[in-house]
Amino acid sequence: MKRGFRKYFRVLLAAGIGLGISYVPTRLAAQTSPSTPQLVHTGGHYQLLVDGKPYLVLGGQAHNSSASNPKDLIPVWNSLVAMHANTAEVPIYWELIEPEQGRFDFDTIDAVIQGARQHGLHLVVLWFGTWKNGNMGYTPAWLKEDPAKYFRVINEVGQPIDVISPFCKAAEQADETAFAAVMAHIKSVDSTEHTVIMLQVENETGLYGTDRDYSPKATRRYESSVPARLMNYLEAHRDHLMPALDEAWSESHFRTSGTWPEVFGSLAPEAFSAWSVARYVDGVAAAGKGAYPLPMYCNNWLVGPGVVRAGQYPSGGPTIHVLDVWKAAAPHIDLLAPDIYMPEWLETAAAFHRPDNPLFVPETAFAPSFAAYAYADLAEFNGIGFSPFGIDDGVEAGKLTPQGNSLAQVYKVLEPLLPTIEKYQYTGKLFSIVQGIDNQSSLFLTPALAAVANFTPRYFFRPPPATQQPGYLRPRGGGIVIELGPDDYIVAGSGFRLNFWELEGPLRSPQYLSIDAGTFHGTQWIERRRLNGDEQHVDLFRFPGILRVRLAK
Ligand code: DGJ
Repeated sequence: MKRGFRKYFRVLLAAGIGLGISYVPTRLAAQTSPSTPQLVHTGGHYQLLVDGKPYLVLGGQAHNSSASNPKDLIPVWNSLVAMHANTAEVPIYWELIEPEQGRFDFDTIDAVIQGARQHGLHLVVLWFGTWKNGNMGYTPAWLKEDPAKYFRVINEVGQPIDVISPFCKAAEQADETAFAAVMAHIKSVDSTEHTVIMLQVENETGLYGTDRDYSPKATRRYESSVPARLMNYLEAHRDHLMPALDEAWSESHFRTSGTWPEVFGSLAPEAFSAWSVARYVDGVAAAGKGAYPLPMYCNNWLVGPGVVRAGQYPSGGPTIHVLDVWKAAAPHIDLLAPDIYMPEWLETAAAFHRPDNPLFVPETAFAPSFAAYAYADLAEFNGIGFSPFGIDDGVEAGKLTPQGNSLAQVYKVLEPLLPTIEKYQYTGKLFSIVQGIDNQSSLFLTPALAAVANFTPRYFFRPPPATQQPGYLRPRGGGIVIELGPDDYIVAGSGFRLNFWELEGPLRSPQYLSIDAGTFHGTQWIERRRLNGDEQHVDLFRFPGILRVRLAK
C-alpha cells in the first residue's frame, strides 16, 4: 500500500467508495516578508498566513462578468456579508486591464479592492488572462486580431481553434508583462492592508477541443525527447504518482527517456499539453511574483463522468491525471485547486489533499446539497478554503435564496470556530460529518471519531424534505467534531443528532457531565446555555449550533 493511502483507505471504506491516492514529497514555498500573505508549510502541514496569522477562506466566487461594472458587484458583496463569508473571489480581465498593448487601466482592480474593504472582506483575485475555461475569451482585442504573432493551437484536422498555443512565446511574454503590471499595482495599493491574499493565475487552463497542439512546431516537440527535468521529477516521485499517470507510464515499463508517445503511451498528448501549458503559466506566475509575491494557485476543469478523451475537457489543465506533471513544471504555483461540481466531491478533495498540495476549493456548486462539504474541506482534509461559484445569487430581493440559506447556515456555524479549527488541523482531533444524499442515513465521513473516542458515535440525520426536490436542492446534514481533550468534544453543525456509545464492553450510553450550547471568542469557549433535562441531547437536528459535550470517565 502506498504511503499516505492508509488514512483515506479507512475513511473511504466507510463511505463505500474506492480511490487510489498517492503522495509526492513537498517543495518549499517562496519566502516573503512575514506580513505579506503567504502559504507556509512544514512537512505536509500547510497554513495560509494573513498578517502573520493562519487564515481559512469561507468564500464565494462572483459570476464571470460581475466585476466589469462596480454596480454589478453589489449583489456579490451583499450576498457574502449575508452568508457570513470572509473572502470574495473576483475575476479581473486582461481585455479590460490592457485595452491597448502597453496601456494599463487598473480601475477594475481598484473597484474590487475598495468594495471588498468596505464590506470587511479579503480577496482572492482571479486573473482571466490567456486561459478561461480552456479558451482565450478574455485576451485583449489587439491580441485576438493578430493571429500571425499570437498564434493559436491547431487541432488534429489542421484547423486553428480559439486557444492560444502554449508554444507562442509572444503571447506568454505579453501575459507575463500584463500580470506583472497587475501585481505591481496590487502591491502599490495593498501592501499595507493585505486585502488581497491570493491570486488565481488564469482560469481552468488547457486546450479545449483537442488533446494537443498539432502544429508542425508542436509536433516536432512531441516527437522529441521528454525534458530531462520532467523525467527526473517523475523518477524521484515514482512511488507517489497519481494513478492515471503511473498507469500510462507503466505502459512503457517506466522508460526514463524517449519521445512523449514512447514514454507516456496513451496519456502522451495530455501529458505533453500539461507540460507546455504549465510551463507557460509558471512563467506568468513567476513574472507576477517578481512584482509582488502573493500565494498563487491554478484551478482546473475536472474530467467529468463519461468523458473519455482529453480535449472534451481542456487537455493539459491541472486535472488529476496530470497533476504530477504540473508539480514538476510549475514551481511558482503554490497549489493546484479542484473546481468541484461533481457528486464525487469527497473523492476529488481527497485526491488534491497531498503532502505537496493543500486542499483549496476555489469553485464548487452553489447548491444546498453542497454547502456541508465546507465542513469536510476544513476538518477532514485540513483545507485552506471553500468557495461556491456564483455567490451573487445568494440573496434576491433582500432575502436569502435556498442556496444562500444553506451556505449561510454552514458559514455561521464555522465563523466563530475558525481559530479553533486552525489550531486543531493536522492534529487528528478534528472530524467532519456529511450526510449521504441518496441513503438518507448513510455517513460519508468520520469513522475516525470512533477510533479516538471512548465512545462510538451514532448519527441520525434529518430526512430530506418530503417534496420531490431534486437532490442538489436538498440541504445535507453536516458538521464537525473537535476532540478538545479526553471525553471533551465540540460538536457543531446542523441536521443531525449524535449519540455516543461505548466502543468496547457492554453497550451503554455514556453519562453526560454536561452539554452546553455556546460559541468561541478566538479559541476561548463561551458558554451560553446549559442543556439538561428534556434538552440533554447532542441535538443539532433542527437548528444549527455549537455544543460542548463533556462525558463522564
Ligand atoms: C467553471 C469556470 O471556472 C467558471 O469561471 C465558470 O465558467 C463556471 N465553470 C460556470 O459553471
